[in-house]
Amino acid sequence: TKRVGILTAGGDSPALNATIRGFGKTAIGEYGMELVGFRDGVTGLVEDRYEPLDGRALSGILTVGGTILGTSRDKVHKFPTPDGPVDMVPTVVENYERAGLDALIMLGGGGTAKNAMRLANAGLRVIHLPKTIDNDIALTDTTFGFATALEIATEAIDRVHSTAHSHHRIILTEIMGHRAGWLTLGAGIAGGADIILIPEIPYTVESVAQTIRARTARGSTFSVVAVAEGARDVADTADYQAAQLLVKNARTPEAQRAARAHLRHVEDSQREHTFTLARELEAATGLEARVTILGYVQRGGSPSAADRILATRLGAAAADLVAAGESGYMVAARGEGTEPVPLADVAGKVKLVPLEHDWVTAARKVGTGLGD
Ligand code: F6P
Repeated sequence: TKRVGILTAGGDSPALNATIRGFGKTAIGEYGMELVGFRDGVTGLVEDRYEPLDGRALSGILTVGGTILGTSRDKVHKFPTPDGPVDMVPTVVENYERAGLDALIMLGGGGTAKNAMRLANAGLRVIHLPKTIDNDIALTDTTFGFATALEIATEAIDRVHSTAHSHHRIILTEIMGHRAGWLTLGAGIAGGADIILIPEIPYTVESVAQTIRARTARGSTFSVVAVAEGARDVADTADYQAAQLLVKNARTPEAQRAARAHLRHVEDSQREHTFTLARELEAATGLEARVTILGYVQRGGSPSAADRILATRLGAAAADLVAAGESGYMVAARGEGTEPVPLADVAGKVKLVPLEHDWVTAARKVGTGLGD
């Protein structure tokens, strides 16, 4: 009998439980494996906190938001301790062996893919499943959590239309997605936003204002703007990229510290960018502007049908891989099927929206302003 551990790591998202269930039911029912769940992501793995997951524990969780296992953003090689960050890979290897595990299933985003690779390199048998509402993981068509968040953000844009219309206002809706524009672009298109601002296309206030003034000239007295949390104007984008480059190129520990402090400073100074843009648009258009930050509602609650199906497919495929003795892969969604992708090919890569992507082209064709 194979004994397998499972954990959820990084920011929570819809369909984590659906994926745990998809894996667990296949592993237990189809292959007769034994399953244990680690608490709170990498934290529980380091602290050796786990419990058995049987058929009963997996029942009734398909539709439930969040994760029954808990999660954290801890990194295995820089685990936070009172004495500073410590490399806990050896501890995890010990815990894995003491628990008698044959494999470890890690549900998470880009950070988790990196943790998974570190553990695979240390000799553990690891499979990663791509979770994130941001859809920014490379080499998979999509990630679970994204479809649900897209529905939620789309509904929000639908709903702000009536207020924008009634009050003749600009409403800027800030949407999550980290440094990628997938969620904002998708929800902006689906919700019929007049302007969509994503990190991949740095905007100028003048271009955004021009789109709004053109609408006014055509008789529209309101505008709905979908703004990605990572979207910045041209100048802020340049500052941010320069600060990132400093971190990348810093050679000594002091230079690293200074570069990181500078990057944090740049990030902090840009944190309120959607509110800044609202004030600038009021000045440039003469219309009133309001901001709605969607925040964590995008990650909460029951997964959509599309996410439940994806989660079940990916979870079941991961169990097949473990049964076949495979390790060191992310299970990608690829067309109608799934495909194992080597962790080394995925870890550290971020999938941004390509500028020639069909969603970008279609948005332009229907006259949506993209701020450039
Ligand atoms: O990755 C999911 C996500 O919600 C991003 O869209 C966002 O940038 C980030 O997590 C927020 O992180 P936290 O949960 O730490 O506030």
